[in-house]
Amino acid sequence: MSTISRLLVRAVAAGARFIREKAPDPLRDAHTYLGKPLNRVDGRPKVTGQARFSAEFRPKNLAYAAVVTSTIAKGRIRQIDTAAAQQAAGVLGVITNENAPTMKPPPKVPPFSSGEQVKGTAATDLPVLGNAMIYWNGQPVAVVVAETLEQAEYAASLVHVDYDVQPARLSFHVLKHEATKPYDVLGEPPHVEIGHAEAQLAHSAVAVDHVYRTPRHNHNAMEPHAAIAVWDEHGGLTLYDSTQYVYGVRDTLAAVFSLDPGKVRVIAHHVGGSFGGKGNVWDNTILCAAAARAVGRPVQLALSREAVFRLVGGRAPTEQRVALGADPDGRLRAMIHTALQPSVEHGPQADAITASTRHSYTAEHILIDQRIVSLDMVANTAMRGPGPAVGSFALESAIDELAYELRVDPLELRRINEPSKDPTSGHSFSSRHFIEACDRGAEQFGWRQRPPRSQRNGQWVIGQGVAAALYHVVRFPAVVRVRINADGTALVQTSAQENGMGTATVQIQHAAERLGLPVENVGFEYGDTNLPKSAPAGASNQTVALVQATRDACGKVQREILSLAGNGSDGPLAGVAFNRLQARDGGLFRTDDRRQGETYGAILKRHGRAWIEAQAESGLPFETMKYSMHSYGMHFCELRVHEQTGEVRISRWLGSFDCGRILNAKTASSQFRGGIIMGIGAALMEETLFDERSGRIVNPSLAEYHVPVHLDVPHIDIIYTDIPDDHTAVGAHGIGEIGITGVSAAIANAVFNATGKRIRELPITLDKLLDDPASSAVTVKNQAS
Ligand code: MOS
Repeated sequence: MSTISRLLVRAVAAGARFIREKAPDPLRDAHTYLGKPLNRVDGRPKVTGQARFSAEFRPKNLAYAAVVTSTIAKGRIRQIDTAAAQQAAGVLGVITNENAPTMKPPPKVPPFSSGEQVKGTAATDLPVLGNAMIYWNGQPVAVVVAETLEQAEYAASLVHVDYDVQPARLSFHVLKHEATKPYDVLGEPPHVEIGHAEAQLAHSAVAVDHVYRTPRHNHNAMEPHAAIAVWDEHGGLTLYDSTQYVYGVRDTLAAVFSLDPGKVRVIAHHVGGSFGGKGNVWDNTILCAAAARAVGRPVQLALSREAVFRLVGGRAPTEQRVALGADPDGRLRAMIHTALQPSVEHGPQADAITASTRHSYTAEHILIDQRIVSLDMVANTAMRGPGPAVGSFALESAIDELAYELRVDPLELRRINEPSKDPTSGHSFSSRHFIEACDRGAEQFGWRQRPPRSQRNGQWVIGQGVAAALYHVVRFPAVVRVRINADGTALVQTSAQENGMGTATVQIQHAAERLGLPVENVGFEYGDTNLPKSAPAGASNQTVALVQATRDACGKVQREILSLAGNGSDGPLAGVAFNRLQARDGGLFRTDDRRQGETYGAILKRHGRAWIEAQAESGLPFETMKYSMHSYGMHFCELRVHEQTGEVRISRWLGSFDCGRILNAKTASSQFRGGIIMGIGAALMEETLFDERSGRIVNPSLAEYHVPVHLDVPHIDIIYTDIPDDHTAVGAHGIGEIGITGVSAAIANAVFNATGKRIRELPITLDKLLDDPASSAVTVKNQAS
């Protein structure tokens, strides 16, 4: 997603495994602010309507745009009739491939480990309104600009397009024999073979070997994608865009319009959720800028919910085989995980579906394989826990199936196979307390006290299930600037994205702790390419990436202040080494004599300085190349299944996590819960219906694409080990995506425990549980546990 791929390759070449160990972060055990459940600093502005989202800016003379999208999957536009639209009231322009401003194809994100330079972050390099070709059903073919949104939408409905239809590749199932190897799988090889897994599987005392399927998912963040584009008289472009990466938008748009990147400013102060859907630049942002240029006015293009389904990719469906062979004592002998997913020719992307299998359990013989099949569809993209979220459904279901076969407690099976080093990379773990998370979770959930087989309450059958979660630690380079003012306040600046995760809050907590300032004296400025370049808000990396750069920027400022303090003074800090100091009470104080020190304000004022600032870049993620670094978790689920209707209701949930140090108890728990709720949706309801005859998504609305509502979600208990990882800044790991991984398996496993039915295809809808539709009943098989 960023320049990381190029950097990673260079770093490997430089021998990353020989990195020098650094001393643990001195703040690893600091608790004045870090770890506290501080309220979100952006909470009040958001709930009072003060926070402005991308579609809420009102530049003067703003016009509104609506898109027209193709209704065929492949072919070419024979004729596009815009006459009626142009005549419609309020219309300022109808832009098609015939009259669009000159645009280059957007640069797409290169494969993670290709070493190619990142020039932009589009999902594909297909030209936008560049020619008459159609590549997917839903591709924009025109954008209409009018004085009002209603006028634009009405005029868009008057655009008539004739197509020459060509045969399209639409069926994942039919074309899967044409699957090819992706370039990589999030930097890991698509194929891994250790030992002889197939042969050992055949010789295992106990084996399970099944195919699991997960459906297409679409992004439905609370805020649909929206942008406002404003061109100035010097050819500069300002964009208010809902994105996870303002610099990615800047570079992509600069390339499309052949501008110096410095001429493009991208602002995203608040983003209403993203989950990977706003990580790439999609056509809507480019169309918005093109429309504004064409009509010579600022233009807003806010996608409708349906348009998000058409223009913005989602999670690819998967077909996976997981086969596990074990000795009678439960030790895994063979572990096989192969995964197939569709992608697109012009931006092939494989999700890390097999990530959990690569890094979770010890097995002597391992076979991993991932393939992609090119289809004519909107480009697939990252969606919360891209890969592990659905890969864990297969792996963690299979582990449960094996536990039943072995008649071993599923938690015990995981303990038996807990690795001492990474099973595929061979690296040491930087910090792994997964079994502790399992034990603490089991204790609090009452796992060992659960009844031995399915229970009943009236017409409901009740079951419990567990599944493990794993998500890799990723860190992208980030630049942060820190300023300390003579009035005792400080400001942290970086272009970071606050998409609702708690980023701003946690960064303020951290800087306050680091500088020894009251938390209310610290500000955080973000969401603007006029600020230093942050890491993207993706891959659960942003918080730690920023904390590391902030740590180094704070250190630089403090050292400068220290040298000022000692400069020509015989004050308490003269001649004192930096590592003999502690930041507290608004300044620097000696550790050998706690009364001796000075506030930043006193030092700055004495030298006539209003402020002092420094900036630092967090370097390459060498640590992730030397160590196996992951966040871990164990989900505990209790649910009930109605034996007449097959309805599944979750009654109890506990997520027990091991994700290094937790920086804010409240926002972290909210992240974990959000992931679990999204996982409940994936397990029980989410499914994009893709018509394989037309390539059309036929349920592009929240009325027909179901996500959990409040009544679908039980109280969710969250606990965590809170053990710092000494190889990361303040010991923290990412927590944005671990929550969703494992959730659908925990539900499938609990459904099995309740009903004896093993559902290997998501979502677990009623029809899959009713074995005899005529009698509409779930036959409960009494299974041993
Ligand atoms: Mo995430 S799915 O890397 O935004």
